[in-house]
Amino acid sequence: MERRAAFVLLGLLYLAVGTLVTVQAVTYSGPVVVREGQGWEIECNDLKDDDHIRWTRNGQTLEPELSSGQLVVLSKAGTGTSKLSATQATESHDGDYKCTSESAESFHLSIYFDIKIRVLTPKDVPLVLECANKSDKVQWQKEKTPLSTALAGNEDIVKIDNETGSLEILKDKEEAYGNYTCKVSANSTIEYRVVPRPTAHLAESTSVVEGEKLHLVCGGKQSPGIKVSWTFGDQNYTRSKGRVKISKDTERGIYGAVLIVDNIEMNDRGNVICRVSYNWSDPDAEHSSEAETFLRVKDKLAALWPFLGICAEVVILCAIILVYEKKRNKAELEESDTDQSPDTKPTPNKESDVRQRK
Ligand SMILES: *[C@@H]1O[C@H](CO)[C@@H](O)[C@H](O)[C@H]1NC(C)=O
Ligand SMILES: *[C@@H]1O[C@H](CO)[C@@H](O)[C@H](O)[C@H]1NC(C)=O
Ligand SMILES: *[C@@H]1O[C@H](CO)[C@@H](O)[C@H](O)[C@H]1NC(C)=O
Ligand SMILES: *[C@@H]1O[C@H](CO)[C@@H](O)[C@H](O)[C@H]1NC(C)=O
Ligand SMILES: *[C@@H]1O[C@H](CO)[C@@H](O)[C@H](O)[C@H]1NC(C)=O
Ligand SMILES: *[C@@H]1O[C@H](CO)[C@@H](O)[C@H](O)[C@H]1NC(C)=O
Repeated sequence: MERRAAFVLLGLLYLAVGTLVTVQAVTYSGPVVVREGQGWEIECNDLKDDDHIRWTRNGQTLEPELSSGQLVVLSKAGTGTSKLSATQATESHDGDYKCTSESAESFHLSIYFDIKIRVLTPKDVPLVLECANKSDKVQWQKEKTPLSTALAGNEDIVKIDNETGSLEILKDKEEAYGNYTCKVSANSTIEYRVVPRPTAHLAESTSVVEGEKLHLVCGGKQSPGIKVSWTFGDQNYTRSKGRVKISKDTERGIYGAVLIVDNIEMNDRGNVICRVSYNWSDPDAEHSSEAETFLRVKDKLAALWPFLGICAEVVILCAIILVYEKKRNKAELEESDTDQSPDTKPTPNKESDVRQRK
């Protein structure tokens, strides 16, 4: 008897777990980081038959890229999976992907550039860009043109080491920033981007009404390839998590520069920080920056107080007018009571008239 009860219990448990599993959201699989130019494929699994498959990136439709064939969706009926793929990764593919609008989870795909970013500050000179350790047949270009033309008039900024073929940047000048290419042979190039120190900017303070949305953009001077990290509450974020959404600043093409937090609460009050760096492993503090804003949360009723104040004022005024009017009416009534004697005086006359007629 006890055994049967145990079996029934186990059965119920199994059913409960079974329903839990079917309630579970979709799962994703695919590469987290893809090199620019390479192919990629994200697979969305555990789809139900009635799920409406609609792939999005950062909440936006992929329709233009799908119709141009840049991206391809493959969904086989009955398999519960859908695949999104591209044959050539581009910078714009970086983002958070979802296969249905209902799914809470998303898949983050990062695109890696085969370009070495070097930060140039006064203490970095001479900045050495290595090529292939070959002095001969090494060709350096800046913005895809020979150095001599790209740096016309500023040739003293750089020097090519004729032993290693390395390019040395000797001065921290604006003209030195840019894209450098080292060609070793026809099919082998090394690319560098020399950038100034990134800066970060946030307003000194930010106000949000309780229950509303916080929307911050980490501004400043940053080049594509920058990495942004946010501190909100007592946690650091580089990706969306819970109610904290990290997304792309589409205007500048920088992923991670936008922080959105829904439903701001009173205890979210405090400092919000954004930090920028091209390489978090770079120990040089001069190569990164941070900005801080103080988040004030306004009482939901705060906006209502002035209105309520006006209402109260109106009510009080009305009450005063009412009381005053009542008093005046009363006074008038009393006055008319005393005034009645002259008014009523003609009555006896009338009576007398009547009497006279009689
Ligand atoms: C170039 O050669 C030097 C010594 O010969 C070596 O230390 C360095 O790592 C080499 N650099 C590259 C990029 O191969
Ligand atoms: C490098 O170039 C300098 C001047 O351009 C020359 O004096 C020197 O001998 C060269 N060194 C080598 C190893 O070729
Ligand atoms: C370097 O290349 C990037 C990407 O192609 C481009 O956006 C940027 O303007 C270039 N930098 C300069 C200084 O031309
Ligand atoms: C460059 O091309 C040569 C032959 O043309 C080949 O042997 C070599 O492996 C190629 N190198 C790279 C890095 O693709
Ligand atoms: C967040 O990042 C900052 C700067 O890198 C670090 O000092 C701090 O300890 C981090 N906080 C957490 C909770 O990881
Ligand atoms: C990042 O910085 C570390 C430490 O300076 C360095 O070893 C590494 O090569 C850098 N990574 C890139 C992609 O430049």
